[in-house]
Amino acid sequence: MPKIVTLPGDGIGPEVTAAAVEVLREVAPDLTIEEHLIGGAAIEQTGEPFPAATRGAVREADAVLLGTVGGPQDSPWNRLPRPQRPESGLLALRRLMGCYANLRPVRVLPGLEHLSPLRPELARGVDILIVRELLGGIYFDGDRRLDGDSAHNTMRYTRAEVERVARVAFWAAAQRRGRVTSVDKANVLEVSELWRSAVQDVHDRKYRDLHLNHEYVDSVAMLLVSNPGRYDVVLTENLFGDILSDLAAVIPGSLGLMPSASLGDGAGLFEPIHGSAPDIAGQGVANPAAAILSAAMLLRHGLNRPALANQIDGAVAQALRAGPTADLGGRAGTQAFTDRVLEGLQVTSGA
Ligand code: NAD
Ligand code: IPM
Ligand code: MN
Repeated sequence: MPKIVTLPGDGIGPEVTAAAVEVLREVAPDLTIEEHLIGGAAIEQTGEPFPAATRGAVREADAVLLGTVGGPQDSPWNRLPRPQRPESGLLALRRLMGCYANLRPVRVLPGLEHLSPLRPELARGVDILIVRELLGGIYFDGDRRLDGDSAHNTMRYTRAEVERVARVAFWAAAQRRGRVTSVDKANVLEVSELWRSAVQDVHDRKYRDLHLNHEYVDSVAMLLVSNPGRYDVVLTENLFGDILSDLAAVIPGSLGLMPSASLGDGAGLFEPIHGSAPDIAGQGVANPAAAILSAAMLLRHGLNRPALANQIDGAVAQALRAGPTADLGGRAGTQAFTDRVLEGLQVTSGA
């Protein structure tokens, strides 16, 4: 019986995680699902964003499903010393689990082009996989300081850190259309020069049959939304990947459609890419699709049950066609949308 740890967190996190758990229980009743604290919710109850009990449970888990962490801009959590804030709990979780490769798929499914603000001919058929390095770069470097009127953070990568995430990108591309675009700022940054050379080396040593090109991040930001069809796998470092993936959410139409899988050498971590959405939290209107699709990624990548993952993907697409949530211009609430997904599952499983 695989053990799943869920970490609902803050804001809409508990609402969308509950939806994903309903769906998981429906398709995989054999899973043991155990809920634990993270983020602001954990700070309130234990004083820490990533308490020892959660760390222990995560170490024992076969896969982890996270909601979201963090408060509104004026939250008292944002005045705590940085290591004690909700977001630091999430970063510590990623580091503990060793999840260095964050897969963020961006897909416009047939019949859902109308949900995109882009012209249908631009949105149609888009199928991009952003592979974001998740444990390095400016996020994790110890050389950081806010000192009165001066502050600094440092972007640093080793060749080994770049190579291991590049291998994941090429592995994914080999199962897709065989094209990797590595995104950097090598015209300005030494770190990007190393990034580019390490990615090219991995390609030349082992993946010469795949297509690799290098593009600059500023231009990619423009091309992603003006000509998204030109991309297959987009490989990039931590901060660039964070920004480009929220931008890419515009293509399908909402952050609420963007799931992710974070993979490393051990158990995987699965989470929607969106935040805690304080502006709509507690209203029952959040789009649970990203969380439900993250549960599908958990089944596919975390537990090697691709057939169940496909069933969930199909039921979500069907529910979106029937009527989406408010972020996509629809009227379905979180529960109504989840119920439609559950109904779709029963249809596809023949029950
Ligand atoms: P956000 O992603 O929470 O929200 C941005 C906008 O998108 C808001 O208007 C929100 O209502 C909307 N939105 C996001 N997800 C939605 C969904 N599922 N359904 C409908 N609408 C949705 O970004 P933010 O406002 O910049 O950040 C809020 C908090 O979340 C901050 O504390 C931030 O640090 C945190 N955050 C956490 C994560 C995470 O846990 N992985 C990711 C991003 C931001
Ligand atoms: C994300 C979030 C996180 C990140 C924050 C909350 C630490 O924005 O998962 O995209 O920057 O990685
Ligand atoms: Mn982000």
